[in-house]
Amino acid sequence: MNILLLGAGGREHALAWKLAASPLVDRLYCAPGNAGIAQEAECVALDIADHAAVIAFCKNNAVDFVVVGPEAPLCAGIVDDLEAAHIKAFGPGKLAARLEGSKGFTKDLCKANNIPTAAYERFKAAAPAKDYVRRLGAPILVKADGLAAGKGVVVAETLDEALAAVDMIFAGNLGSAGSEVVIEEFMRGEEASFFALCDGTTAIALASAQDHKRAFDGDKGPNTGGMGAYSPAAVMTPEMTRRTMDEIVLPTVRAMSAMGAPYKGVLFAGLMITADGPKLIEYNARFGDPETQVLMLRLMSDLVPALIAARDGQLKTFDLRWYPDAALTVVMAAKGYPGNYAKGSAIEGLREAAALDGVEIFHAGTKAEGGKIVANGGRVLNICARGKTVGEAQTRTYAAVDKIRWPGGFCRRDIGWQAVAREKASGGGRAFS
Ligand code: AMP
Ligand code: GLY
Repeated sequence: MNILLLGAGGREHALAWKLAASPLVDRLYCAPGNAGIAQEAECVALDIADHAAVIAFCKNNAVDFVVVGPEAPLCAGIVDDLEAAHIKAFGPGKLAARLEGSKGFTKDLCKANNIPTAAYERFKAAAPAKDYVRRLGAPILVKADGLAAGKGVVVAETLDEALAAVDMIFAGNLGSAGSEVVIEEFMRGEEASFFALCDGTTAIALASAQDHKRAFDGDKGPNTGGMGAYSPAAVMTPEMTRRTMDEIVLPTVRAMSAMGAPYKGVLFAGLMITADGPKLIEYNARFGDPETQVLMLRLMSDLVPALIAARDGQLKTFDLRWYPDAALTVVMAAKGYPGNYAKGSAIEGLREAAALDGVEIFHAGTKAEGGKIVANGGRVLNICARGKTVGEAQTRTYAAVDKIRWPGGFCRRDIGWQAVAREKASGGGRAFS
């Protein structure tokens, strides 16, 4: 069959790598792709916001199945448009993608279905929002309702910070994403990224992961899209996975189906593992980036039948197999990210790095120029490795990072530190099941 993958980041390179390994795939296209994805797929210069152009490409190239990477096209209804044109697509429709597109929608759904999450209220004006902030006290979360590319969440340590965040969002700094504000109680615990494949009526758990959102070592510095990740997440014991499925994911899938917006695709739950068990921080309607990079390294089964079963509503009897190994990824970003950064600096040493044992390199923001690979984004490369433990995966990953010659880039040196510390404390062996 012929598959079209939409997106251009490290997540899409990892998905392309796994899709290309499937014996079911004849031709794999990716729009728009990047220099790394071009090793796995035929990259096509399509504007993926132009649904008519995507549909025309599918018709002209006998595309049987479209896999959507990022959230923007999902929230814009690209799956509905493709399906209406009789092209099968993986991902939620527009109404189901509200689980990511509107924080208020998700919080209301949690409340109505007793899904554990932080206490909250929604506001359309600053004065009542500020009253609620004063009532709950700091620390407290102030969030813009809509998609704000990671800039819509303020973790306010003090009341003054929280009040200023309310003003900032209502001042229109985030555009229409900030026409409504959600204020939430601060939850304490350890975070985990949890993924489930959903087919509209049921769901199966994928592996768990943890990502590092802050830019600098020691989890300091500004928030980013993610500077690294590893899998599995030690906090996601089999019991915690079972509770997450029973208390959070499955009730969500049932509620979406009951309201006529069945959720198909991958549901990414950002979790806080608290003393009382798992609580939902937020949903994303897509695979995580960079979590997908480590998930794909651990997935033994063919990805294609799994995605098709999700689309066809056939997951009930489906089973996925995983390698028992751990996997870790380090993001190499352009200096200045997540603020201003330069594009176009040359990257060398990729081949030597990729030749090391257990190492895989995914491109997040690169392009080929005059026979060289150059940086073309903020997050530029994902250096990944598998290992028997997170510690071994970490050692292998950084050995590969050290082969890469890119003066214009930087990365964190401590990805996976919590898991490695846990492994050391438990005698160097595996700290997870
Ligand atoms: P979000 O974009 O909603 O994932 O939030 C970004 C980050 O803010 C999360 O990864 C958490 O670290 C933190 N966060 C969000 N909501 C809460 C909450 N209710 N309690 C504690 N931390 C939170
Ligand atoms: N790594 C978090 C995300 O994909 O949103």
